[in-house]
Amino acid sequence: MREKIERLKRKLDVTIAAHYYQRDEVIAVADVIGDSLELAKKCAGDPNPNLVFCGVGFMAQSVKTLAPNKRVLMPRIACCSMARMIDGASYDRSIALMERAGIERQNVMPIVYINSQAEIKARVAKMGGMVCTSANAETIIRAALKNGKKIFFLPDRCLGLNLAKRIGISAATLGRDEDFASKELIAFDGFCSVHQIFTIDDIDFYRAKYPDIIVAVHPECDPSVVDHADFVGSTSQIIKRVKEFPIETPIAVGTEFNLVNRLREKNTFVLSRQKPECPSMNETTLRDVLGVLQSIENETFINEITIDEEEREWAKIALDRMLAL
Ligand code: 13P
Ligand code: SF4
Repeated sequence: MREKIERLKRKLDVTIAAHYYQRDEVIAVADVIGDSLELAKKCAGDPNPNLVFCGVGFMAQSVKTLAPNKRVLMPRIACCSMARMIDGASYDRSIALMERAGIERQNVMPIVYINSQAEIKARVAKMGGMVCTSANAETIIRAALKNGKKIFFLPDRCLGLNLAKRIGISAATLGRDEDFASKELIAFDGFCSVHQIFTIDDIDFYRAKYPDIIVAVHPECDPSVVDHADFVGSTSQIIKRVKEFPIETPIAVGTEFNLVNRLREKNTFVLSRQKPECPSMNETTLRDVLGVLQSIENETFINEITIDEEEREWAKIALDRMLAL
């Protein structure tokens, strides 16, 4: 199958992109590998007219938003469960809830994690807000705070609360905390089911076994876990930091299994007794990659990403505001 894929890649004007959480077999055939921010930038600037995107829907949508003339196809239309936790109606309900609590709409600056649908990014842009990723969220929130408005951070509660703590501003979760209206950052109550797996017990377990262990976690983990870790960073930041340590240093990593499994040759542990695989990321197989390439060859173009043009233009404004920073 790999040979067939390589042959089709040579024949067609196509680039294969894969997020770090993809299966090893998919990573092996990818031309571009990265985290969500790196992929958005690299794929949008890629010269090939066809892009096969191996990841989840919001990532492929981000490329299509930035590069509308590119044909973006997914081997599988896999959806991030966190991105599906907020839709247009629940976004509008959240703003209405804040208004009922005395916060004026014009005093709200929405910051939306890139793990969201184009529909939500468009709504955020219309309110003057912008996108962030886990790699740049701190920079984006610090810049947004200069407007003197309240930050509405969505959809990941954990990322919002972790950043608020790091920056030193007050924060609360909408629908959970009654006194949310007095806080500087209000988080939507969404989460990543994969990164919720890691617990303080897991950290204690590894620290008891290896007293000099380094614990690195993704900021989608619960704030209690982040507080107990030695290092918190996005996917690319974790990769960079882990590789700086000598191979003898034991490291436990709290993020997706496929990435951790190929990080280093030894002394690298998944920070859980469970296997933290992202079911959506794992949907894509080598067979699916071959299938989508064949569809380019016979011009049937399966699983092509399309976005309503007005929505795309607004979503692009939210992405461009991030990229400008
Ligand atoms: P990154 O921005 O670190 O690639 O994260 C994307 C993601 O889905 C993490 O769960
Ligand atoms: Fe979405 Fe979590 Fe999977 Fe990332 S790991 S794609 S946030 S479900």
